[in-house]
Amino acid sequence: MTVRWGVIGTGGIARSFVGDCTAAGVEFVAVGSRTRASADAFAAEFDIPRAHGSYADLVADPDVDAVYVATPHSRHAEDALLAIDAGKHVLVEKAFTITAEQARRVVDAARREDVVVMEAMWTRFLPQMTMIRELIAEGRIGRPRFVEATHHQALPTDPHHRLRDPELGGGAILDLGVYPISFVVDVLGVPTDVVAAGTLSAEGVDTQMGIVTTHDGGAQSMVHFSLDVRTPNTASIIGDDGRIDIDATWYTPTTWRVRDRDGAVVEEYDSREELTGYAHEVRAFEAMIASGDHEGGAMDPEQTVAIMAVMDEARRQVGVRYAADGGSADGESADAESAAGLEAPPAVP
Ligand SMILES: NC(=O)c1ccc[n+]([C@@H]2O[C@H](COP(=O)([O-])OP(=O)(O)OC[C@H]3O[C@@H](n4cnc5c(N)ncnc54)[C@H](OP(=O)(O)O)[C@@H]3O)[C@@H](O)[C@H]2O)c1
Repeated sequence: MTVRWGVIGTGGIARSFVGDCTAAGVEFVAVGSRTRASADAFAAEFDIPRAHGSYADLVADPDVDAVYVATPHSRHAEDALLAIDAGKHVLVEKAFTITAEQARRVVDAARREDVVVMEAMWTRFLPQMTMIRELIAEGRIGRPRFVEATHHQALPTDPHHRLRDPELGGGAILDLGVYPISFVVDVLGVPTDVVAAGTLSAEGVDTQMGIVTTHDGGAQSMVHFSLDVRTPNTASIIGDDGRIDIDATWYTPTTWRVRDRDGAVVEEYDSREELTGYAHEVRAFEAMIASGDHEGGAMDPEQTVAIMAVMDEARRQVGVRYAADGGSADGESADAESAAGLEAPPAVP
């Protein structure tokens, strides 16, 4: 079965994603943009047969089976729901939404309409990550007790750029922090406690943040992310019988090794020849459509909701508020946590 893809949005990631996936044989049949001219230019560049001058026209295209949402996070819920209501499967860029409450609405709508919805957390679909999950499940490092990971990039400083604009869900957490947070939840499960500290820009978004999570059984993680500085971006999973060290850049195909509990290298891997990763997530998504098994897999929608709840809670502690948060910070956060089964930390007097 060939899945016919439509794309919503013609910005940076849409270009990278469509370029990579076209090279891997994925079929794109239509693109939708807020402007006809952008849709036409994108369609011409990537040899896509149909261009639509609105997102509504794209989702109404009867030849589109699945929609890839590549707009700013602030639009993700609205654009995903548009596609779901039109009966399309939908792959939504990270961060999946702005809040856990929005994520819950999107996941529930997809369930009701019996379509696949998945967060495009492409890193989880790399063969390297599949191998790491298998090594952990085989007990090669014992019980994971601690995960550490960073995501630092030196990104545009223009306060009007979407990365800095609260109206568009700007800030480090939703763009960069979501990678290490998703990694932690993948390895250790949903945390029972989240403690965050961060720095805000003049616009009120987080320019950098550190989070410590605690999990059932006492395992912990420490993640840090920033919009303003570049570091190597490495990750480690430390177990009670060894550890896995992933070199720079840990969330892309790279080199990595397994060490015993004394630190000696016991296995070494080089995954750099893998594809960038977008095609892996697309193939996994298409397999879910074909099998009729619309949930589970490497990026289960319930985990996506839980990851959004962790980010809601970290934002609440640091003081990053978006319009989508609505109401009082405490009330909104408590709703999101209960939606994802995350316990609220005690209120600070
Ligand atoms: N997976 C990855 O590796 C990766 C990498 C980068 C970004 N992302 C994610 O992809 C999403 C888009 O990021 P991007 O860097 O591609 O952003 P971008 O370059 O600004 O493009 C976003 C596109 O969304 C559409 N859009 C709709 N409403 C908009 C608004 N109010 N302001 C600006 N654009 C609007 C525009 O397309 P039209 O004008 O055609 O409607 C625009 O070109 C974000 O959620 C981001 O986190 C993922």
